[in-house]
Amino acid sequence: MEGIAGQVAVVVGAGAGIGRATSALLAARGMTVACLDRDERSARETAEAIGSSASAHGADVTDADSVRAAFQAVADAYGQVHAVVNCAGVQGPTGAPSHLVDLDAFDQAYAVNLRGALVVSQVAVSHMLPHRYGRIVHVASIAGKEGNPNMIGYSATKAGMIGMVKAQGKEYARDGITVNALAPAVIDTGFLTKLPDEVVRYMLDRIPMGRAGTVDDAARLIAWVVSPECGFTTGFTFDLSGGRATY
Ligand SMILES: NC(=O)c1ccc[n+]([C@@H]2O[C@H](COP(=O)([O-])OP(=O)(O)OC[C@H]3O[C@@H](n4cnc5c(N)ncnc54)[C@H](O)[C@@H]3O)[C@@H](O)[C@H]2O)c1
Repeated sequence: MEGIAGQVAVVVGAGAGIGRATSALLAARGMTVACLDRDERSARETAEAIGSSASAHGADVTDADSVRAAFQAVADAYGQVHAVVNCAGVQGPTGAPSHLVDLDAFDQAYAVNLRGALVVSQVAVSHMLPHRYGRIVHVASIAGKEGNPNMIGYSATKAGMIGMVKAQGKEYARDGITVNALAPAVIDTGFLTKLPDEVVRYMLDRIPMGRAGTVDDAARLIAWVVSPECGFTTGFTFDLSGGRATY
């Protein structure tokens, strides 16, 4: 893959799952990687496993100041932020239809998945604009395209994230900054263990390839989307669903 070696990536939600695997792959391909997570200890584990080309920072996307401070530390240390991958996400309330959903639990999903994504984009763009270059990827979900029943907080906020990316792709299209999303179906991470079995079965049953995706499936696609090679696509949501989404 051309061009990412020597560049700097910030991975938000780098302490586990897709974010951890993406951090490792980007580093293996020659990037310097800043690992951000609200769980600083897990971010440090990711960075330590990578070695000297990675750093760890505590940052919670629901707290804009903490995200700004972490990005500033990265910019001070490395000079420029070329790529930002936002993997921070929570499921929100599951297992109940919309009319029974606890609104405080919904607000939590909103705060992380949608408002938090806006915070990440805001801070990322503010660092990228002076350089007129950047790649931003938000990990959304197939639930945002299709709507998973009894997961209204998750489905609605991931749909919001997809809409946000469409708008931001256009806003920064002439500034050298691309903003894209990924819409995975089931990916085999610790995220799944937090979901009821029937919800996981519902999602797996809909995958024509008959398997869950792996974190490496996700990391490889992200690594290409954040590379200079992916230069004529913005505002787009890339499929990662083993054939479930065909649009
Ligand atoms: N695993 C799946 O099946 C699947 C499918 C579709 C989409 N996704 C999305 O992919 C992304 C990553 O999922 P994963 O399976 O790797 O999850 P995960 O739970 O394994 O990892 C998520 C990471 O994000 C961090 N995080 C959570 N809230 C945060 C916050 N407020 N600020 C900063 N960090 C925060 C967590 O500490 C954790 O390290 C999520 O946005 C999720 O919605 C996952």
